Amino acid sequence: MPIFAATFTTTMLEKVEHYLEELKELRANTAEEAENLRIKFLGQKGLIKGLFAEFKNVPAEQRKEFGQKLNELKNQAQEKIQQLKDRVAGDEASSAAADMDLTLPGNEFALGARHPISLVRNEIVDIFSRIGFNLSEGPEVEDDWHNFSALNFPEEHPARDMQDTFFVSSLDGEELALRTHTSSVQVRVMENEKPPIRTISPGRVFRNEAISARAHCVFHQIEGLYIDKGVSFADLKQTLLYFAREFFGEDARIRLRPSYFPFTEPSAEMDVWWGLETEADKRITKGTGWLEILGCGMVDPQVLENCGIDSSVYSGFAFGMGIERIAMNRYGINDLRMYFENDIRFLRQFKGAL
Ligand code: PHE
Repeated sequence: MPIFAATFTTTMLEKVEHYLEELKELRANTAEEAENLRIKFLGQKGLIKGLFAEFKNVPAEQRKEFGQKLNELKNQAQEKIQQLKDRVAGDEASSAAADMDLTLPGNEFALGARHPISLVRNEIVDIFSRIGFNLSEGPEVEDDWHNFSALNFPEEHPARDMQDTFFVSSLDGEELALRTHTSSVQVRVMENEKPPIRTISPGRVFRNEAISARAHCVFHQIEGLYIDKGVSFADLKQTLLYFAREFFGEDARIRLRPSYFPFTEPSAEMDVWWGLETEADKRITKGTGWLEILGCGMVDPQVLENCGIDSSVYSGFAFGMGIERIAMNRYGINDLRMYFENDIRFLRQFKGAL
């Protein structure tokens, strides 16, 4: 009996050793193969369960050794099969990635769009920055000096009238205005900087007007200012022509019409040739074919003096344009109010524009 028992246990131990070796060689290429190995080794009717079932037949004095080996086999089988499962799962994921068609269009990103006013402003700022104009800004709530007095608006000028200007009072009772044009920034720049000055000042302006398709109480302007020795009207005209060609295209044509502003002398308004072929052209240009774009002129020597610049040494030009008007023409927008309503169907159309 002892001989038989010894032989039996040796065989059982050998079996376990054999399976431990077999474990090391296990391979699986698919999840299914790995699962079949799990069933074979660790399943309810698997071979490890079978070995445990034989435990009762092992002689008492050998049970310890056999039990330890058997537990080792079970642990190693669990570990190995888990490794195989993890590996095939990883392989399947990466081969799924390799099957992906990278030329297919991607999922669209929920990106917003820039506002048409921003688009046009950025483009204009960019055009002038290419010829050395820097960017400047001033406050939207402005005092009388910067918005009017320094710019030669006489005391009784109608533009100061309550009808055109929104007035506000500061906490200490000073009467302030919402700036009616970006020309106020000209004054601030001239007061604070020494010539040569080349600057572009975009910003929001406010006028007390009834809101309609053609007028609004808030709109945007871009101011330009150039001060140096010997600046002439020819420089102004060439600068504006450069701008018109950059913005409207190489064959853009401009004309300057005499005009009046208190702070420039001489003053002009610039028109750009639009065309006069269709009914729409007639409507847009009021039957002239020309589109009015901006006001401009040579900075009045008195304005230079008001801002501390010696007008016997320096001269300069200034111009100011309305962004809404230019954007209307660029994008075919026919109602100013659209700019301020934030209707997503309107704004969405400018997606992708830079
Ligand atoms: N500030 C003027 C306006 O709002 C435009 C302008 C700017 C004219 C600079 C001449 C020089 O109409």
